[in-house]
Amino acid sequence: MFPRDFAWGAGTAAYQIEGGWQADGKGPSIWDTFSHEKGRVFGDQNGDVACNSYELWEKDLECIQQLGLTHYRLSVSWARLLPDGTTRHVNQKGVQYYSKVIDDLLACNVSPMVTLYHFDLPQALQNEGGWTSPGIAAHFDNYAKFCFQAFGDRVKLWITINEPQVCAKLGHEDGIHAPGLKEKGTAAYLAGHNMLRAHAMAWSSYDSVYRPKQKGAVSLAINSDWFEPLHPGSGEDMKAAERDLAFTMGWFAWPVFVTGDYPEIMRSAVDAQSEKLKYSGPPRLPTFSEDEPAILGTADFFALNYYTSRKVESGGGRGEGLCMKSDRDAEEVLDPSWPVCGVSWLAVVPHGLRKLLKYIKDTFNNPAVYVTENGFSQVGPPQIEDVQRCEFYKDTILEVAIEEDGVDVRGYFAWSLMDNFEWADGFSVRFGLFHVDFSDAKLTRTVYRSGREYAKIISRYKSAPCKGEQLAIRD
Ligand code: GAL
Repeated sequence: MFPRDFAWGAGTAAYQIEGGWQADGKGPSIWDTFSHEKGRVFGDQNGDVACNSYELWEKDLECIQQLGLTHYRLSVSWARLLPDGTTRHVNQKGVQYYSKVIDDLLACNVSPMVTLYHFDLPQALQNEGGWTSPGIAAHFDNYAKFCFQAFGDRVKLWITINEPQVCAKLGHEDGIHAPGLKEKGTAAYLAGHNMLRAHAMAWSSYDSVYRPKQKGAVSLAINSDWFEPLHPGSGEDMKAAERDLAFTMGWFAWPVFVTGDYPEIMRSAVDAQSEKLKYSGPPRLPTFSEDEPAILGTADFFALNYYTSRKVESGGGRGEGLCMKSDRDAEEVLDPSWPVCGVSWLAVVPHGLRKLLKYIKDTFNNPAVYVTENGFSQVGPPQIEDVQRCEFYKDTILEVAIEEDGVDVRGYFAWSLMDNFEWADGFSVRFGLFHVDFSDAKLTRTVYRSGREYAKIISRYKSAPCKGEQLAIRD
């Protein structure tokens, strides 16, 4: 069951909801550039207006209150605060906007969890090489310090970088997220490496300068599917599932929670492929320098984004040349019994979350865990009576409620508070607990049935949160 101070939240991200892409001195981000290029996003849509939360924040707050959330996870836009990415120029209007959001939340008894980076690098920094340039880590550290200074008196839960794995791979290897690079087999590892360096620097700054006064906690949000062997009796498939976990969760969790370096499984797989394909450039998976803040120990809790699961078979990407897929050498498939709802990648597997939580407990020394994202998507004509999503939330939250694994889960954040700009899928995929009518200039927010259901779950747990007591989540 859930402790009394369990965090019941929902999340959003700046580029996905704010709009106001040029308002009041905001600088352009890589997602502004990317989505303005033809052919990048479904229907050539973009986040210029999105849910217009820059102007309609009070409407979002009403939604938050209607759900009875105790926590709200938002991200701040680096380029709205620092238009060219550096503290040479501060956009005071941006500071005022987020300050008001934070104050309003606290006035309503809702605690903010603030993500500093959710995919939207200032374009000015991309022009200097972005995440593949080593200098980015110091820029990020300065930006983080700026935010801790400006908002840390009120914000106690921080996420430095959201989903570095997605950001590195989709943005630098697959080219389907900004900045749209397809430098296979090299750039993603480099970008991920600099994200870890940036994260560690920011955590160290917080730890030494801000934590003594502000007393908050800082982590990075790590995404992972649950991976299990397609043929449980096959040693090869078991190894492939382990490789997949290492290349997704382990890539970032291992350095931070276990050794200060990448998982051995990952390094040896990358090295073996480099040798096999006679790659002679600099090591593709970089090494950490001893002159910089150590990576190990730079997370005060484990922040997990979980959406789906995969069955894994050995052998994948063979013959595709130098790329992450051939490094992983694993093929992922869906179990036919798992319903796929909304987007094609999202097979609904609530029990995968329980397995992943147990894996985190066992592998990373029983950290405090926040499930910082989990959700269910809808495509096609909007259905306000979204019965399947109601079932999804009930089933998934029951998996989190299971006590016998002894996982220290401190909070659960549904993705997302409302329908929004779903990256390369534009507005065609809807993850909201509130529907947003993008065809109407007022961008009216209407609660889905799943939003009402989530509110019910929250209020039941909040009013009867006794450990060990069986609570009827179902009527
Ligand atoms: C995550 C991302 C969110 C949201 C979600 C649903 O990868 O952090 O911004 O888009 O996926 O696809």
